[in-house]
Amino acid sequence: MSQYQAVYEAWKADPENFWKEAAKEIDWIKPADKIFDVVDGLDRWFVGGQCNTCYNCVDRHVEGGRADQPAVIYDSPITGKKASLTYKELLDEVATFAAVLADQGVGKGDRVICYMPMIVEATISMLACARIGAVHSVVFGGFAPKELATRIDDAKPNLIVTASCGIEPGRIVEYKPLLDEAIELSAHKPGGCILLQREQATASMIEGRDQDWSELVSAAKAAGKWAECVPVAATDPLYILYTSGTTGVPKGVVRDNGGHMVALKWTMWNMYGIEPGDVWWTASDVGWVVGHSYIVYAPLLHGCTTIVFEGKPVGTPDAGTFWRVISEHGVAALFTAPTAFRAIKKEDPQGQLIGNYDMSCFKTLFLAGERADPDTLQWAEEKLKVPVIDHWWQTETGWTIAGNPLGLGLLPVKHGSSTVPMPGYLMRILDDEGNEAKRGDIGAICVKLPLPPGCLPTLWQDDERFQESYMSAFPGHYETSDAGYMDEDGYIYIMARTDDIINVAGHRLSTGGMEEVLASHPDVAECAVLGIADNLKGQIPAGFIVLNSGVDRSPGDIEKECVSLVRAKIGPVAAFKTAVTVIRLPKTRSGKILRGTMRKIADGEAWSMPATIDDPAILDEITDAMKDRGIAN
Ligand code: COA
Ligand code: AMP
Repeated sequence: MSQYQAVYEAWKADPENFWKEAAKEIDWIKPADKIFDVVDGLDRWFVGGQCNTCYNCVDRHVEGGRADQPAVIYDSPITGKKASLTYKELLDEVATFAAVLADQGVGKGDRVICYMPMIVEATISMLACARIGAVHSVVFGGFAPKELATRIDDAKPNLIVTASCGIEPGRIVEYKPLLDEAIELSAHKPGGCILLQREQATASMIEGRDQDWSELVSAAKAAGKWAECVPVAATDPLYILYTSGTTGVPKGVVRDNGGHMVALKWTMWNMYGIEPGDVWWTASDVGWVVGHSYIVYAPLLHGCTTIVFEGKPVGTPDAGTFWRVISEHGVAALFTAPTAFRAIKKEDPQGQLIGNYDMSCFKTLFLAGERADPDTLQWAEEKLKVPVIDHWWQTETGWTIAGNPLGLGLLPVKHGSSTVPMPGYLMRILDDEGNEAKRGDIGAICVKLPLPPGCLPTLWQDDERFQESYMSAFPGHYETSDAGYMDEDGYIYIMARTDDIINVAGHRLSTGGMEEVLASHPDVAECAVLGIADNLKGQIPAGFIVLNSGVDRSPGDIEKECVSLVRAKIGPVAAFKTAVTVIRLPKTRSGKILRGTMRKIADGEAWSMPATIDDPAILDEITDAMKDRGIAN
């Protein structure tokens, strides 16, 4: 019998007491005066509390008997390298690098941007910032210089930590030219950069600005430097993570220290059924929220061994890599995005490679980041013979909104549903008037305020955008921007985004941002970018462009330039490969582009002629253009 219902009801009856009890799992320098309070108009958890996230992730496990347990295992099939750090070794590296940061003048509240590939030093940098109360902002390596520049200008970092390169199958991605260009583009100039030279590429250094990671760390070790944990307020920011908003300007999601630790620690047993000491693997990237929460913070808070994997589910070297990592390191649970499993299933449809490995250690697969299609879910269940658990969350929340809580006892699985709300989340499915939708009816999925600990208290230095983006549509509620429904049993079904965000291989991208880039092409008069269904990546973007009158260049050349422009301005991660020239775009009489109808045509879904359409003939033209390019299903 699952304890879920009883635990959820206990939370509902007394939320503050629920989180007060959960907070006992964390070591506090000073306990909170108030579990919840509104401070300067913002909802805050553990007000008055003092703590240090790095202490809870590292030091306390060394003191508590886990000094010799592996904390981090680095497994990099793309470079052929493996390494392991015990908790004691991790502490030495983090405290040393924290001292290096402090020597560079980084202190409490200062920002540090980490532009790093999937190497252990990315984790060390994040924890080192946490140790001295600095606020890290990790930027995913697949973003282009302009995206990095936007983040530099918003976060205004004192320092940037980077590496000479990331490695993608078949190519080395040199980070330094990208970083130099970003700093060139940004109005804010960081005080300096620390760069880790990897053997695959040597970056040239700018005198007076760039310093070598290894030299600084060696010198600090030789001098016996060591930074102690700095007490911070529970409500102080631990990190800023930028995520796609409805325009090209990303939102700086802020995470605090206290609530974040309490919520993540609670999930490790109650949601994931993981014990301290277990080996936990999240196959994602530290540049995403899944990486922040479940590669770095949650497993370390819980005293687990976490795996830093630098590779892909397929091609590094084959579709059996995941099974090798699981069997070799004794992984109890894997957390990844469904797209990774779609990639594996495509390469090895019978799952034959699984049989090459002893997977007896493996207990559960968790999927999130995008809709888990029932086919992929069933394939994974059949082939792996373990529970496969879909759960739904967002960068903003930092942890599960709805899931099937393994530790509390699994509820019956319903394919297509991410199951039930976690304690902390009172879900409401609202119609356009803000009334609660009937069970089974689709509406805007909202959370009744306050949000639980761990969720964003605000956007970085932009309380106004925070209120306007999330709280204005349905007063008293946080709007998730996902549409869906709740069934009679209280199960949640996530159906689609209500804004212009698309989900490409588990990566959250703004079509509005891509449209801004296309519109900047001198020959483009107007454009629309849609997320079109894709068997591997879930969705892929496709751009439709209308050329300025009088342009007599080849549309094919302009389309190629548009594809290159998105790659250059947003980055390869946008996976923008298709631009189609059309004579005109379908619009309503008030001039709104009918993107929804265009997407339905592309996806082969049933659609009806919008009553407000300006000229119905345009939809035929668009359908023909899609068919010509093999887009329409
Ligand atoms: N640095 C630089 N470039 C990167 C990058 C990084 N860290 N990560 C991805 N890219 C590039 C890729 O090389 C690719 O470039 P290309 O257009 O030249 O081929 C492009 O960005 C798109 O990457 P991706 O969407 O990852 O596609 P892929 O074809 O390389 O791999 C999957 C497809 C499914 C194997 C891959 O997306 C994957 O492993 N996903 C796992 C799930 C995941 O990590 N989700 C994140 C949130 S949980
Ligand atoms: P991100 O902020 O990058 O984690 O993306 C969050 C968005 O991804 C959500 O708002 C959803 O649209 C989508 N998403 C995440 N997890 C799921 C899931 N389990 N099922 C359906 N959609 C999901």
